[in-house]
Amino acid sequence: MKNNTLRHKATAISPANIAFIKYWGKKDPKLNIPFNDSISMNLSGCSTKTVVEYDPTFRNDLVIVNGTEVKDDKRKRVVDFLDIIRKMAGKKWFAKVVSDNNFPSDAGIASSASAFSALALAGSRAIGLELPPRKLSILARLGSGSACRSVFDGFSIWKKGSGNNSSYAVAFAKPNFWNLVDIVAVVDAGTKKASSTEGHEAATTSPYFKTRLNELKKRIPALKKAFLARDFGKFGELVEEEAISLHVAAMTSRPPIFYWNKGTLEVMETVFGLRERGIPAYFTMDAGPNVHIICLDEDSKRVNLALKKLQFVKFTIINRPGKGTMLLK
Ligand code: DP6
Repeated sequence: MKNNTLRHKATAISPANIAFIKYWGKKDPKLNIPFNDSISMNLSGCSTKTVVEYDPTFRNDLVIVNGTEVKDDKRKRVVDFLDIIRKMAGKKWFAKVVSDNNFPSDAGIASSASAFSALALAGSRAIGLELPPRKLSILARLGSGSACRSVFDGFSIWKKGSGNNSSYAVAFAKPNFWNLVDIVAVVDAGTKKASSTEGHEAATTSPYFKTRLNELKKRIPALKKAFLARDFGKFGELVEEEAISLHVAAMTSRPPIFYWNKGTLEVMETVFGLRERGIPAYFTMDAGPNVHIICLDEDSKRVNLALKKLQFVKFTIINRPGKGTMLLK
């Protein structure tokens, strides 16, 4: 039997991540260059495993996600990304891509970060490229902006940069730096109304967008300081403020985008209630209705119990700071 090297095959696993400071709006939509730096934590409980196999005899790319062949726009996004890798390697081979999420595929959790970082590593290694972490982060960013932050273990900062070679993530802190827990309260497992890519496009039409960028000049250093001092109260306040800021920008863009639903508000109110009872917990959301509740390990059981009781919460996923993108043997 031919071995993996001769078969040009590689398998990678990569986590999703939750941004404490968010990427919202693209300065360069083709290269996914953001307007601002962002900061995130990898999620130990939400990852994508991807196998890429190139074969000079294949006549087309085949993309299978969670057991189903992917077509149209979704396929095109993967094929365009494989084209970037093929160009880097100077090869024209077609590929078979098989990708699976370990979290429920219908959970409505953004999987583009885990998907494109896993694809960047498996796709580049299988074709014979050995990219150092920074180059891997740049490549992942070209597939999906937030994917560049999944490459490193624990917590990352994506430096916005000004062009393709200067926009990448770097490690900010190791997973064991802080025992934060992110509990995802899934309130809507369906597909979201507007994709994050559509949200990015609309972002700059919000009259609040410029104000948001100005606020970030203070919020980013303040959040870094609170994080490094492990000041959870201050950190949580800033995380929440940032999430609300993104959603205000989305709601005031033209056309307006409302990602929140009844369940989102139910969870937000519960988080306020937990704090009134002396349990420090803070919320954040991405481009969708599901809520990420950030708390400390010692409070995570109580927080999870409170969330699971809610009318609109279908299930929860518990995450700790996770490892970055890795090859599997
Ligand atoms: C709200 O990385 O999904 O989750 O580059 O178009 O793939 P594309 O966008 P994507 O945007 C993520 C937006 C966000 C905030 C964040 O993760 O920083």
